[in-house]
Amino acid sequence: MTNKYMYFIANWKMFGSLNSLKSLDKVIKFFKNFKKNTSNKIIYCPPSTLINPMFKKLKKTPIQVGAQNCHENQNYGAFTGSINTTMLKNAGAKYVIIGHSENRQDGETDKLINLKIKSALKAKLKVIFCIGETLIEKRNKKTNSIISKQIKAGLKNIKKKSNIFIAYEPVWAIGTGIVPKSDDLLKTIKFIKSKFKGKLPKVLYGGSVDPKNINNLKKINNIDGFLIGGASQSSKKFIDIVKKT
Ligand code: PGA
Repeated sequence: MTNKYMYFIANWKMFGSLNSLKSLDKVIKFFKNFKKNTSNKIIYCPPSTLINPMFKKLKKTPIQVGAQNCHENQNYGAFTGSINTTMLKNAGAKYVIIGHSENRQDGETDKLINLKIKSALKAKLKVIFCIGETLIEKRNKKTNSIISKQIKAGLKNIKKKSNIFIAYEPVWAIGTGIVPKSDDLLKTIKFIKSKFKGKLPKVLYGGSVDPKNINNLKKINNIDGFLIGGASQSSKKFIDIVKKT
């Protein structure tokens, strides 16, 4: 790995209860024993109900907490069921995932994603901005044009991009056990970075990352980290992934 830091972001999706926080004990212990000069950064993104309890639990550790989504409005307002970026920050979140394909499939548009990113940046949250093509788009050789469009629209009128991480998550790789071929992944990450001028953003890969395929994935030297769904719900698997890099 040529990167200064490797990021490991756990996306718990709609899983987890107060009881599941106990599973973090192993993770905390593991990172306590980790050398001080570790070049890994760990972020847990639980469901909103667990952000604050998790934040309290992880307070004295280097592990940080993030959210999985947010409302586009930074202010308080009459939006039943929604949580804004100010609230997430207040609950202890330092990061927020925005534009995940599971939300895009639910109707989240590029325009809405752009508003959410702006709101998160204003609230001083770091953004994990998800992009990626569907299987049909991949088959039609549209990967580059789709991700270009998603980057352009999602980051419209955002000048300062230093707090934005890009998570390349091909939709067909999420939860399927299938990961892209190393060559393809290397090229796509390179393509994503080529879309930026000046300081390049951190680009993470997400989609079926597990302890078995991490050995291959870590060889792709332009990847700055991983967004891990299913495997992050098991502290053993998550630790295994981090250990192997
Ligand atoms: P997965 O999910 O690791 O279960 O494929 C990744 C994600 O959706 O962020």
